[in-house]
Amino acid sequence: MIEQLDRIEQDGLAALQNASDEASLEQWRVAHLGRSSPLMMVFAGLSKVSKEERPVVGKRANEVKQALEAALAERSAALREAALARALQAERLDVGLPGRPLAHGRLHPATQTLRRIYQVFAEMGFQVFRSREVETDEYNFQLLNFPPNHPARDMQDSYYIDTGKERGDNPVLLRTHTSPGQIHAMRHFAALDPANPPPIRIILPGMCFRYEQVSARSEIQFTQVEGLAVGARVTFGDLKGTISDFARRMFGQNVRTRFRASHFPFTEPSAEVDFECFVCGGEGCPVCKYSGWLEIMGSGMVHPNVLRNGGYDPERYSGFAFGMGPERLAMLLHRIEDIRYFWSNDMRFLEQF
Ligand code: DAH
Repeated sequence: MIEQLDRIEQDGLAALQNASDEASLEQWRVAHLGRSSPLMMVFAGLSKVSKEERPVVGKRANEVKQALEAALAERSAALREAALARALQAERLDVGLPGRPLAHGRLHPATQTLRRIYQVFAEMGFQVFRSREVETDEYNFQLLNFPPNHPARDMQDSYYIDTGKERGDNPVLLRTHTSPGQIHAMRHFAALDPANPPPIRIILPGMCFRYEQVSARSEIQFTQVEGLAVGARVTFGDLKGTISDFARRMFGQNVRTRFRASHFPFTEPSAEVDFECFVCGGEGCPVCKYSGWLEIMGSGMVHPNVLRNGGYDPERYSGFAFGMGPERLAMLLHRIEDIRYFWSNDMRFLEQF
């Protein structure tokens, strides 16, 4: 009996070595520990064993059972561990491998320049006032003191949306500059208190459109930033101070400004403003065409007719205005040679900013 149990144990342990997966382990369990296994037969036959031998055989049978069960548990754990190791090996990843770079968006160079301009003017107390891109002839020209056949209207050949015949010759067009925003803004603020309109200090940014021959220097669409200050005693000195301060805040403390007499229908007097070349510091370079100066903006004192059209009495109020092109500033800052890059959506250009 004891020898038989020894053999059952040895056979069982030996057979277990061949079980290499869940299914064969289960087969082994049925064969060696199952109800009709030789070991269970020994248990079943215990009653027929003599009284003297029974405790010895019973004890040994229990030992064998425990040994086989322990071996099964051990073998099964070992197989699970091996399977896990294989799975990990299969999913092995090389943490040293460089990742794929994420393509992230960025702000358009014109937007970056605009935001810089907003920031500088915000520091100087100017708010942003937005106005429409689609205008009437009245706002784009007439209220800004352009007489009907003024030659400046030829300068700004426009994209017309209709002829405006049915509205008393007041065609709708895409604005050719941000200056009509001056009228919208003045009318907006004057309406708050028509008897005593409040002072104004704003910039008006936005897209403008002109029907022009596209070239490296001129586009059919471009942004402008207009400035407008209106109050009881606004002087040309305020204009000069504001623009000079803007130049220094934008391009550095040593940048000088220069005002040259000019003409615009909506300002009187009018001036063209040059900034000392911030590329060469005034020494002369290709960017300033060796003049040391860069043409940056138009400006002037708001024409009395324009103030009146905005609801501000020119006897009591005065104001200054200016207008500039951020793309031109960005071109000068980044040495961009062709304005057509700005709105042609070429990633090779845009990714550089
Ligand atoms: N509107 C002018 C243009 O598009 C720019 C300009 C000049 C705006 C003088 C002004 C100004 O406000 O005072 O060329």
